[in-house]
Amino acid sequence: MVSVRVDAAAGGSWKLGDLTVNRIGLGAMRLPQYGQAFAADAVPRDRGEAVQVLRRAVELGVNHIDTAAFYFSRLRSANELINFALAPYPDELVIAAKVGPRRDRSGNWLEPATPGQLRGEVEENLRQLGRDHLDLVYLRRSGRDSIAEHFGVLAELREAGLIRHLEVSNATPADLAEAQAIAPVVCVQNPYGLGHRGNQDEFVDACGAQGVAFVPFFTIAGAGREAGATAGEHPEVGAIARAHGVTPAQIRLAWALHRGPHVLVIPGTGDPDHLVDNVAAAGLSLTPDDLTRLDAVHRAEQ
Ligand SMILES: NC(=O)c1ccc[n+]([C@@H]2O[C@H](COP(=O)([O-])OP(=O)(O)OC[C@H]3O[C@@H](n4cnc5c(N)ncnc54)[C@H](OP(=O)(O)O)[C@@H]3O)[C@@H](O)[C@H]2O)c1
Repeated sequence: MVSVRVDAAAGGSWKLGDLTVNRIGLGAMRLPQYGQAFAADAVPRDRGEAVQVLRRAVELGVNHIDTAAFYFSRLRSANELINFALAPYPDELVIAAKVGPRRDRSGNWLEPATPGQLRGEVEENLRQLGRDHLDLVYLRRSGRDSIAEHFGVLAELREAGLIRHLEVSNATPADLAEAQAIAPVVCVQNPYGLGHRGNQDEFVDACGAQGVAFVPFFTIAGAGREAGATAGEHPEVGAIARAHGVTPAQIRLAWALHRGPHVLVIPGTGDPDHLVDNVAAAGLSLTPDDLTRLDAVHRAEQ
């Protein structure tokens, strides 16, 4: 049994431009509702519970929160919850917002933002979060948008002081290179985890070689995606978790962190107990034997 410290700093830190973050953060997509994110019939999460998760996260050393204006349910908005729970914001807290995808006020998906709509998307995040600038903004690609035009607009907003640092999400290596020719990119955010999207392995390593952070999402949910971790756990992951006296979700986070010092995880949860487990994963040491076995699971699941 390993002793597990509940302190996000135990997993080390990384510099996103001039902003230092602990490598274990928090994804805000799960805060507005229970169950499947974006589901029309999703039950709004208890407001006090969501606020408790955010405040506890910061107490545990989390200083990197991933959010978006399009993370909302019928009654809850992730950005509004963050604003209510955490403003006035601690100096060391880094909030990352994504722009590109859009939903109408009833939650229906709209066409992704055109270049001309991106300023409005950035300003909506600023209003909801109650800030004058955003620390980090991702261009969350939706397929048809152009890096040159969309990322170019965000680069102008960065020059204008509305954005501190830029990032790309759902991006290919070619997208990253194209964006980097326009402005510095501090981070890539793509789906990736143990046994999930192994086709990202090389890109994860390539980002590390360039000093660009890689922020995986669906690290716990895997193929369950927006529905969450719905599949049964892999027996090998379960066995390693039992040997450490931790949960499979913690093993998944520890494995992702082990992929490189530039990998920053943002497990999504609105559950106070899961939050503590996730932060505790920062202090979990996997043995060389664990890693060999987990890497074999990763390769076999592709
Ligand atoms: N760029 C993009 O396109 C994109 C897409 C999706 C997500 N994201 C971002 O990435 C973040 C992470 O993704 P995610 O939230 O989908 O997936 P995740 O972190 O892989 O998994 C979240 C799911 O696992 C559950 N969970 C969390 N911690 C757990 C634990 N310790 N034990 C058991 N179950 C646990 C959550 O339910 P509970 O709430 O019950 O804990 C939820 O169902 C999001 O919150 C969001 O900020 C970005």
